[in-house]
Amino acid sequence: MRVLHVVGARPNFMKAAPVISALSRRGVEQILVHTGQHYDAAMSDIFFHHLGLPHPDVNLNVGSGSHAVQTAEVMTRIEPVLVEKKPDWVLVYGDVNSTVAAALVCAKLLVRVAHVEAGLRSNDRTMPEEINRIVTDRIADLLFTPSPDGDENLKAEGVAPERIRFVGNVMIDTLVSLRPAARELWESRWASSLDGERFALLTLHRPSNVDDVAKLGAIIEAIAEIAREIPIIFPIHPRTRQMLRSIDAPFPPKLQLIDPLGYLDFLALQERAAFVITDSGGIQEETTYLGVPCLTLRANTERPVTIDLGTNTLIGSDLDALRREARNALEGRGKKGTIPPLWDGRAAERIADELIAILPPH
Ligand code: UD1
Repeated sequence: MRVLHVVGARPNFMKAAPVISALSRRGVEQILVHTGQHYDAAMSDIFFHHLGLPHPDVNLNVGSGSHAVQTAEVMTRIEPVLVEKKPDWVLVYGDVNSTVAAALVCAKLLVRVAHVEAGLRSNDRTMPEEINRIVTDRIADLLFTPSPDGDENLKAEGVAPERIRFVGNVMIDTLVSLRPAARELWESRWASSLDGERFALLTLHRPSNVDDVAKLGAIIEAIAEIAREIPIIFPIHPRTRQMLRSIDAPFPPKLQLIDPLGYLDFLALQERAAFVITDSGGIQEETTYLGVPCLTLRANTERPVTIDLGTNTLIGSDLDALRREARNALEGRGKKGTIPPLWDGRAAERIADELIAILPPH
């Protein structure tokens, strides 16, 4: 059996890594294709390094562009690779433009495609990722879901139950296996510089928060207020960095703007943070696993299990709610939760077993 993995953007890398390891332990031949959607060293290379991912066999170097341009470039450039490599399965991950582009090409070439992290729905079609999720799930042959709500969503859309496998959360596999290394990094790199002080962590990159200067300015102003009470570390996504140049908001010294962090550094900080403010998808899940309160600057989430069982609170654009919840977390009244089912570090093992059960290696 030959499996071809497609990764492109930062959140794909930690999802693919455990699946690649689980399949290589089973002696499966694998090909790794990087679309090049993310290309900066801090958005891509450092993740390959921290996650122990093999060097990509193919890099499509698509780079940045509008959604149409980026999606079309991935499609055009991946087609000849799939024709040449003739994989038995293509694995696509998450909900980025590279995911849907690769899945579309597979569907037309009649190459079997499996979607890892299937079935998640925010029910908000203004979010580009929601379109990517719906289309990918519609055309993929096999759908690996991270939580039971994923199964429910797919069934409600008419997907045959035989195509769905509830395997758990592969991103948590990576967290579980790299937590010891992150703790070492905490001791060697972060503990002394933070000097025992409590801190919070902030990430912000959704177009709905950062592409509108007025909205971004208002968020930064509320964050700056919270930073009077507790230092806030803010690793800045390139998209947000560009937008911050055009806003005129106060940046108090305790709001520490830094370059994007590698996987291990971010995990090290996440585990020790008093709370996290974010609009990311994956961080809602990681904080739930770690038991750290997460204040999500979005009106909805495709990961409702983090609210029902975990530590996540949806803030929407209500900045008073942000101030209030931050204070609760500061005073030790942050949301507590439990770890969702099958977020046990073994999701990739289940995926590998399923693929082999369907199509054994030669
Ligand atoms: C993409 C994903 C999003 C994911 C995010 C994680 C889609 C639709 N969006 O959003 O789901 O949460 O990745 O980071 O696929 N840029 C750089 N260097 C890079 C990459 C991007 O400077 O290595 C800049 C470019 O100006 C680019 C912008 O960031 O135009 C946005 O990058 P893009 O890949 O289009 O979307 P993200 O916002 O990163």
